Amino acid sequence: MIEIAVGDGIVLREPREDDADRLFALIDANRVLLGRWMPWLDYMRHDGDSLTYIRYSQEGNREGRFLNLLIWVDDEPAGVLCYFALEPAQRRSEIGYWLGQRWHGRGIMSRACQALIDYGFGHLNLYRIQIACAVDNLPSRALPERLGFTFEGVLHGREWVGERVLDHAIYALLLPAWRARRPA
Ligand SMILES: CC(C)(COP(=O)(O)OP(=O)(O)OC[C@H]1O[C@@H](n2cnc3c(N)ncnc32)[C@H](O)[C@@H]1OP(=O)(O)O)[C@@H](O)C(=O)NCCC(=O)NCCS
Repeated sequence: MIEIAVGDGIVLREPREDDADRLFALIDANRVLLGRWMPWLDYMRHDGDSLTYIRYSQEGNREGRFLNLLIWVDDEPAGVLCYFALEPAQRRSEIGYWLGQRWHGRGIMSRACQALIDYGFGHLNLYRIQIACAVDNLPSRALPERLGFTFEGVLHGREWVGERVLDHAIYALLLPAWRARRPA
């Protein structure tokens, strides 16, 4: 069971089946916010759907295909942070994230992302970590910018969210740049 202590009451943890009800309640309470940017919301209509997601996450995490973690703040589920797909041969992955509205504006996601990045370079042997944000999603773009990622350009028409197709701003952080910023 992977568990990453971020500090200040923030913990990243693999989801468990008994998290399903609380995860669904969190998603349901943030449906409007998440529906603007996340393509999977239509698959999360009933509380059984969060259990399906958790079982899918457990299987993929176990097999090393991706890494889906719940963000806990003071023992409450607050959001999700993940490596979408792990490609060991290519040593690259992409981070995805969302956080319930009531936890916004406190630096929780920035610190959680930094911990996941450290875990990716330090324990998963990654060389390149990417973050892709809809070009108009400014709170999301602020994260890789705050964390020292390099803006590489825009991929057009990369993701459908309902009837809208989004252009993505692509950011990346490479292992040498991460190492250079680590305290000695
Ligand atoms: C993207 C998302 C996670 C960003 O949330 P956020 O609260 O802005 O991000 P953080 O938790 O890192 O908090 C940063 C804010 O806390 C402030 N902050 C306070 N203490 C801080 C600290 N120690 N470190 C960093 N920031 C801190 C920052 O100044 C910033 O505030 P600002 O927006 O007023 O400048 C959130 O908007 C979200 O979940 N959106 C919906 C889903 C989504 O869009 N996901 C991304 C799809 S690509």
